[in-house]
Amino acid sequence: MSRLDALHDERAGGPRRSRRSVISWIAAGAFAACAGVMTLFNLMFLRPRVTTGEASKFRIGRPENFSSGSVVEFPDAKVVVRRSGDRFSAVSLVCTHLGCTVRRTDVGFECPCHGSVYDAAGSVIGGPAPKALSWYRVSLTPSGELEVDKQSVVPAGTHLEVAS
Ligand code: FES
Repeated sequence: MSRLDALHDERAGGPRRSRRSVISWIAAGAFAACAGVMTLFNLMFLRPRVTTGEASKFRIGRPENFSSGSVVEFPDAKVVVRRSGDRFSAVSLVCTHLGCTVRRTDVGFECPCHGSVYDAAGSVIGGPAPKALSWYRVSLTPSGELEVDKQSVVPAGTHLEVAS
């Protein structure tokens, strides 16, 4: 391109229009990028944040795996399961004072943290615990396994009776 052509293009607005259009494209691109990022963050905000915590139901095996009179602890679930004859029950091992894990004793349970004492049924007999240990529903699954549901608190003394 000769110098005269360049001067002509410049007077006609050629190079200047081209520069303007480049700046416009950059601005439009930046705007689109910002809008895209904002849309992405808004969609992330709208997406429900579900936390998958500890499952409330857990299977503990078949009834015949528990001998009559047995008391079996499930430390991860903080539950103790008892079998008395054909009756099964599940009691929480979480202290109702501040949530420490209670230990079984000859007469019931005791909490190592502040000394709460519970009888065998989980009722408070000493210490700062404000209420009894929770009892959980025990049920039988269609496949014949026992299942404890920690979401389902039942009155103390509630049992599942399984025909042997
Ligand atoms: S947490 Fe059990 S007595 Fe305080």
